[in-house]
Amino acid sequence: MKNNSEDIKETIDNRFSEILFDKNDIEKAAQRVAEQINNDYVNTTPVLVVVLKGAVMWAGDLFKYVSIDAETDFINISSYKGGTKSSGQIELITDLTVDINGRDVILIEDIVDTGLSLDYLKKMLVNERGAKSVAVATMLNKNAVRKADVSVEYVGFDIDDVFIVGYGLDYKEIWRNIPFVGIINPEVI
Ligand code: XMP
Ligand code: MG
Repeated sequence: MKNNSEDIKETIDNRFSEILFDKNDIEKAAQRVAEQINNDYVNTTPVLVVVLKGAVMWAGDLFKYVSIDAETDFINISSYKGGTKSSGQIELITDLTVDINGRDVILIEDIVDTGLSLDYLKKMLVNERGAKSVAVATMLNKNAVRKADVSVEYVGFDIDDVFIVGYGLDYKEIWRNIPFVGIINPEVI
């Protein structure tokens, strides 16, 4: 067991082969996206819906800079069954607590990959729950792998098709707590 901070840092670094975005990069992106939201939603009180679990850290950054009146809520859906590829099967795990009928909703997402999860959520919130509008503010956007024709209104970063973890994103439920978006060292999985 390593016991000084120098060694702990080394241990953390060895699990990842590359850091794509650190917490400062992400906070700056959150500030930029929040300013766009502040401009676009001046005459309404949107509901900011955090898509659990992956969007938690990004939402925390974004919330600090959204200065308009807004409500917040959470929804938990699952699309990945613990690996690195989307199953395409989406399951509603924890539902909203706010009635969004007639409301403007902004989904806060960690990543839009195939777009299947977002497509499911947008359709459900409009068709079944009566949302007036549903936009998305995602930390990461993988354009190249889209399987659903879904609009993505606010993007932190566009990325290539590489499996990433950290800052809310997991591999088999671990590494959501890592304070950067990085690529896993292939030797550790
Ligand atoms: P889809 O394909 O439906 O993906 O747009 C939505 C959800 O899948 C997860 N996801 C990832 N998780 N690294 C991860 O840790 C990735 O590269 C990745 N790509 C997709 C994520 O939860 C996202 O909301
Ligand atoms: Mg997600």
